[in-house]
Amino acid sequence: MTDEHVINKGLEGVYFTESAICKVDGQAGRLYYRGYSIEELSKNSNFSEVTFLLLHGKLPNNREMLEFNQSMSKERDLPEGMISYIKENAQKMHPMDVLRTCVSMLPAYDAEAYDSSPEANFRKSVRIISKSASIVAAIGRARANKSYVAPDPSLGHAENFLYMLNGEKPRPEMVKILDIMLILHAEHSSNASTFGVIVAGSTLADLYAAITAGAAVLKGPLHGGADEAALSMMYNIGKPENTEKYIEDALAGRQKIMGFGHRVYKTYDPRARIIKGYLESLQTGNSEELKTLSQIAMRAEKLMIEKLGASKGIWPNIDFFSGPVYVSIGIPKELFTPLFAVARSSGWCAHMLEYWQNNRLLRPLEKYTGQLDLPYVEIGKR
Ligand code: SDX
Repeated sequence: MTDEHVINKGLEGVYFTESAICKVDGQAGRLYYRGYSIEELSKNSNFSEVTFLLLHGKLPNNREMLEFNQSMSKERDLPEGMISYIKENAQKMHPMDVLRTCVSMLPAYDAEAYDSSPEANFRKSVRIISKSASIVAAIGRARANKSYVAPDPSLGHAENFLYMLNGEKPRPEMVKILDIMLILHAEHSSNASTFGVIVAGSTLADLYAAITAGAAVLKGPLHGGADEAALSMMYNIGKPENTEKYIEDALAGRQKIMGFGHRVYKTYDPRARIIKGYLESLQTGNSEELKTLSQIAMRAEKLMIEKLGASKGIWPNIDFFSGPVYVSIGIPKELFTPLFAVARSSGWCAHMLEYWQNNRLLRPLEKYTGQLDLPYVEIGKR
């Protein structure tokens, strides 16, 4: 095969652009947003500040943070038509499909939807990031046969999400955990869904179209859908003592264990390490369900690392421990991936705005393996 026909299946190892947003060190297991480590940010920052950092490339000062929070808060409420759509459809489709459809509906309510200026795209980014949280909360309400709860402008982003989802002010410790989960899910360089956003935007489709593409890509169980699948597996295991046999049987059947493995990390995903820390604190919690989930997760992790860690570079990723942590703050399983999208909308928008500064249509090649110049035969003679 000559050089120009080298096929990198899955674009593995292919660099398609340069970016100053995120560094993923897959060998060392390190992750940086705009130069700040994920450990520093999850310890000291919050999702709104991290969103500002991703979009602007620097941490905000007090005035900038206040203005940014006001701009996010102003965009939270949903149009009546969208609330009705969610009420009508939230129990008929997967929540990711409802979220994706609502994002693609937003241009109907945005006078500058098709204004491609950087300033308008920045304002649209804030609308998308803010509204996506309200949309997911509204979906959660509709799936529970509860009415829409209008946002509370006095609350922070994570706090307001929990308020809109549950209809009551959340406890500070729940807000803190959700805020950190949103930080950890906000950005991850050219993952499949961010790449999907950029492919769409590289044709100069508008930002709403690009983010809709990202939501469509994130849904799959090999990507953002793994968190929901990993928790389902833990429920299927049922009891801690069933864990090892379940995993052994699944591996023997060539099944992939959701929440493990990564195209870039060939060591422990640093985000998983932080989330695991919260899970260990849950083991001492009072809920039997959480204690059981935590014990199953820890036993599955131990076995998978023994069997596939060093030998195949398959380690826990961000999706493995997320489920039990979300359960601990009352998030229903079917909202896990939508919540991933709520967080990743920051990274999606940041990458799209950066790529448009030096846009180039994305159009890879494929190696043709079919025939050529076949003679056309009339249907009666075939
Ligand atoms: C995310 O890219 C990102 O940054 C994504 C993400 C982000 O923040 O945006 O980090 C979020 O998507 C995390 C990944 C969530 N997905 C899962 O947890 C699903 C389970 N994981 C696998 O499907 C897999 O590990 C992938 C898809 C994540 C990565 O797969 P690759 O790089 O395409 O590797 P592969 O499927 O070719 O696997 C290589 C080998 C295979 O064995 P062999 O055929 O060589 O014998 O490793 C095995 C695989 O069978 N393998 C697993 C496994 N993952 C890989 N075996 C068992 N369980 C697994 N989870």
